[in-house]
Amino acid sequence: MKSTLVVVALAYCIVSTVHVSCQPFNDTLYALLKDHDNSTRFVHYAGQTGLNLTLKDPYESLTVFAPSNQAFDQLPKDVKKELENDLDLLTDVMTFHFYQGLVSLSVNNALSSSLAGAQARINLYTNPKFNMTTVSGVPVIQTQSFPGLRNGVLYLVDKVMFPIPTGTALTFVNDDKFSMLNLALAKAGMTSFLDGKDADVTILAPSDEAFGQLPPGFFDDLLQDVPLLTKVLQNHIVRDVWYSAYFVAAGGGSMTTMAGQQLDVTLTDDDTTLQIGDASVTQSDVSVTNGVVHVINCLLLPADVRGKVGRPEMRTV
Ligand SMILES: *[C@@H]1O[C@H](CO)[C@@H](O)[C@H](O)[C@H]1NC(C)=O
Ligand SMILES: *[C@@H]1O[C@H](CO)[C@@H](O)[C@H](O)[C@H]1NC(C)=O
Ligand SMILES: *[C@@H]1O[C@H](CO)[C@@H](O)[C@H](O)[C@H]1NC(C)=O
Ligand SMILES: *[C@@H]1O[C@H](CO)[C@@H](O)[C@H](O)[C@H]1NC(C)=O
Repeated sequence: MKSTLVVVALAYCIVSTVHVSCQPFNDTLYALLKDHDNSTRFVHYAGQTGLNLTLKDPYESLTVFAPSNQAFDQLPKDVKKELENDLDLLTDVMTFHFYQGLVSLSVNNALSSSLAGAQARINLYTNPKFNMTTVSGVPVIQTQSFPGLRNGVLYLVDKVMFPIPTGTALTFVNDDKFSMLNLALAKAGMTSFLDGKDADVTILAPSDEAFGQLPPGFFDDLLQDVPLLTKVLQNHIVRDVWYSAYFVAAGGGSMTTMAGQQLDVTLTDDDTTLQIGDASVTQSDVSVTNGVVHVINCLLLPADVRGKVGRPEMRTV
């Protein structure tokens, strides 16, 4: 009996040479969130969806990414209204902020499963001026969990997270608006790469409109030259997962593609739209199981290919 007590006491005590701090891990996630003045919306929605029961359960072991009040306030009006009128939808969205086990934010590209089974990706970005951690592309405001919690860990996040599709990058581009890209990928034998479950990639996906901007005949010629086509496609793939949040915080940056080209990333005037090389991002941060997709409005041609556009020798390659 005595030895059990000692073990329990040791488990609860953080021993320091100066003083022994015996603060029991007795707070539940709920108790902490309820008193946190940036979490009132989250607590309110947890009550509506019955997730307050989970937060209060002292025997839970879970990770909560709680969006700040500001994050909920920033939702578009119609989205917010839909959430408040559709309990199933609210439950889905709220559950996507609850993860199994104690998630540590220390491994880049680690995946975690939400209580609903959907996955989120953790990314760690470093910059000479700041470090940033994102979960499914959403910046984590506070990367150290609160101490003294007995039933989980809690991180505050800057945006409301939405359940991500369970498909790969290939699943996402398997859509009518990417028919040219699909054709090109098939011709270059690159579809399985985009479907790869292991690769952590950023795909810069040109829409059909982007292909439509090429000079007449260029695309047809490109389809006939598989090595060149492969190089062009590789210039749209980056072997790391770059969510826009990092570039927005850093005020820009660059990415190096699989074709070896460095693409400058800049922000447009409103500081929210990314420009990658010559292309504007028309849809950013589409989470997929193997990384992230940004849709772009023109092709990113490697410098040596660009020189051939519209030239007669292109017809002979
Ligand atoms: C946890 O324990 C501390 C110290 O004994 C106490 O001050 C605090 O009120 C307790 N919290 C809860 C939620 O029981
Ligand atoms: C959860 O919140 C709802 C709404 O505030 C409340 O009616 C319910 O009693 C709460 N459940 C628990 C277990 O606290
Ligand atoms: C970023 O994190 C690294 C590793 O933990 C640390 O050495 C560095 O000082 C941090 N940089 C900034 C700007 O906080
Ligand atoms: C709440 O979180 C937002 C970020 O979403 C932050 O800008 C704001 O300062 C925080 N407010 C408080 C009171 O901590």
